[in-house]
Amino acid sequence: MKAVALTRYLPIDDPQSLIDVELPTPVPGEHDLLVRVEAVSVNPVDTKVRSPKPQVEAQPKVLGYDAAGTVEAIGGSVAGFRPGDRVYYAGDVTRPGSNAEYQLVDARLVGHAPKSIDLAAAAALPLTTITAWELLFQRMPFDSERGGAGKSLLIIGGAGGVGSIAIQLARRAGFGVIATASRKETIDWCLGLGAHQVIDHRDPLAPQLAALGFEQIDAVMNLADTEHYWEAVGGILAPQGHVGLIVEPEGALKIGDPYKAKCIGIHWEMMFTRPRFKTADQAEQGRILERVGALIDAGELRGTQTETLVPINAANLREAHRRLESGKTIGKLVLAGW
Ligand SMILES: NC(=O)c1ccc[n+]([C@@H]2O[C@H](COP(=O)([O-])OP(=O)(O)OC[C@H]3O[C@@H](n4cnc5c(N)ncnc54)[C@H](OP(=O)(O)O)[C@@H]3O)[C@@H](O)[C@H]2O)c1
Repeated sequence: MKAVALTRYLPIDDPQSLIDVELPTPVPGEHDLLVRVEAVSVNPVDTKVRSPKPQVEAQPKVLGYDAAGTVEAIGGSVAGFRPGDRVYYAGDVTRPGSNAEYQLVDARLVGHAPKSIDLAAAAALPLTTITAWELLFQRMPFDSERGGAGKSLLIIGGAGGVGSIAIQLARRAGFGVIATASRKETIDWCLGLGAHQVIDHRDPLAPQLAALGFEQIDAVMNLADTEHYWEAVGGILAPQGHVGLIVEPEGALKIGDPYKAKCIGIHWEMMFTRPRFKTADQAEQGRILERVGALIDAGELRGTQTETLVPINAANLREAHRRLESGKTIGKLVLAGW
């Protein structure tokens, strides 16, 4: 089968950083689906795993943690899927990724793709959706249906992949949603997805919130830079408020005042925890994708794909990584077809 892989960890402008390879088609284990991958999306995790270092892989390493495709074969213990089903998933960062014509994925991490969108649009969703849903509704203490009613939520990094679905999930759950964006096109994107208001993360947050009438905020999802906004977030959160984090800080975080005095709930999300440690509740990721697929089909959520590169090959994946590393992508960048 065709695949895109690396053996060395090189800057993305090096043509050897991601290369086209031929690999044997894998055989499903007991809980696996063998999926014929039709479309993939890229995420910052791809560029972080690929980041330059001296390490060399003996075997080609395939990246890619978002896919949509068709089930080709199933393992003996798989329930709920049949060959021919259209599926979407993020999968498991500890297994070979989706940048290959065929991929194995544990069926418990997989959802049926929404029927109302094509597989390229479906591939944009899984990793960011699982991240936003787990953070807001499972790590932070908010119910996915009406848990935001009467509450304000600031989403830092609203136009990114995670922010683009978080805005929609939060709005649907009843929050008053304030997103951050720094450019005309990202401001428009956030408002179009349902943010009630947008402020600029390049300027101090508290005065902008005050100008909108918010002296304090009930919850913050910091989807961009944990350290940079730590002090400002502590300042704007209400007593007993909540902050959700997904970006690893480079240094230590100080949980003194105002976090201590205000008793702020600090919630960390790592979307690969369930697959990586095969937690007893790992099937929750499949359930989240089924639920979100139904909400897309019901018109309550919309897709976040903004650009598509065709076909899936090393040159286009290098271009996708390059764009992602700029930190300026809006929504999700997808690659489709072989
Ligand atoms: N822990 C987990 O499970 C998990 C899961 C998914 C992602 N992540 C991490 O979360 C981060 C976001 O992921 P993503 O996929 O949403 O990224 P992304 O799509 O690359 O985000 C791009 C957006 O970030 C905004 N941005 C750039 N610098 C910013 C800053 N200093 N402050 C606020 N916003 C900024 C930009 O908006 P403007 O152009 O308007 O400035 C841009 O639209 C990444 O570091 C990723 O690795 C972690």
